[in-house]
Amino acid sequence: MRKKLVAGNWKMNGSLAGNRKLLDALAPVDGVDIAVCVPYPYLAQAAEKLDGIDLGVQDVSEFTAGAYTGEVSAVMVAEFGCAYAIVGHSERRALFREGEAEIGRKAAAALAQGLVPIVCIGETLAEREAERVVAVIERQLAPVLEILGAEGLATAVLAYEPVWAIGTGRSATVAQVAETHAAIRAWLASHGVASERVKILYGGSVKADNARELFALDDVDGGLIGGASLIAEEFLAICRAAAVAQSCIE
Ligand code: 13P
Repeated sequence: MRKKLVAGNWKMNGSLAGNRKLLDALAPVDGVDIAVCVPYPYLAQAAEKLDGIDLGVQDVSEFTAGAYTGEVSAVMVAEFGCAYAIVGHSERRALFREGEAEIGRKAAAALAQGLVPIVCIGETLAEREAERVVAVIERQLAPVLEILGAEGLATAVLAYEPVWAIGTGRSATVAQVAETHAAIRAWLASHGVASERVKILYGGSVKADNARELFALDDVDGGLIGGASLIAEEFLAICRAAAVAQSCIE
């Protein structure tokens, strides 16, 4: 049985004083794994403050060390006790031109240091309207599978984040999420990946008031939370919704 995971993605937000309040207010919730993916400069602060909640980053270099100005390696973040590294977030794909193979190599770099990569996938509105959702998933996952192999991909976490639902307040519908997550799991199974082991998170305008119905879906193993992860009460309410969903499958 897969355990639900709720991961916060703070994106490029935070300050030492603001983080202190947010981190102090977070606490573990029974029955769910919780993680917060913070900007690199706050790793030490978050590592010191978090207890029973995992630490993650929002990107990681495909390289290990050397002359790569501005890059941060998985080796470095592992030293802070990081458990997760988001790779291939749609903002990095769109704004920083990250390519499919590069994302696969970043996931491999994370795995090599014992971090679990959270590989983000998801279509734009135009792609959904053109009924290309499954084709996009295939385009995004195939290079990751080629680089990680079936066993590597089985140990990763996937996050389905439709681009049009991110930060818009317009979550995908329960039916859209159910259908797409099932398609992702079917794709994994048909490519030799132990799909029943893979956690598939949903991300895109998850709030306390829609989390419960989304997390109740069979193929939804938790959420990747942006804006709502910056508000302790909201984030914890989402974690509690995951705990309720978890208790229903136990
Ligand atoms: P929002 O929850 O703000 O829509 O962001 C989702 C996201 O991009 C998480 O990675």
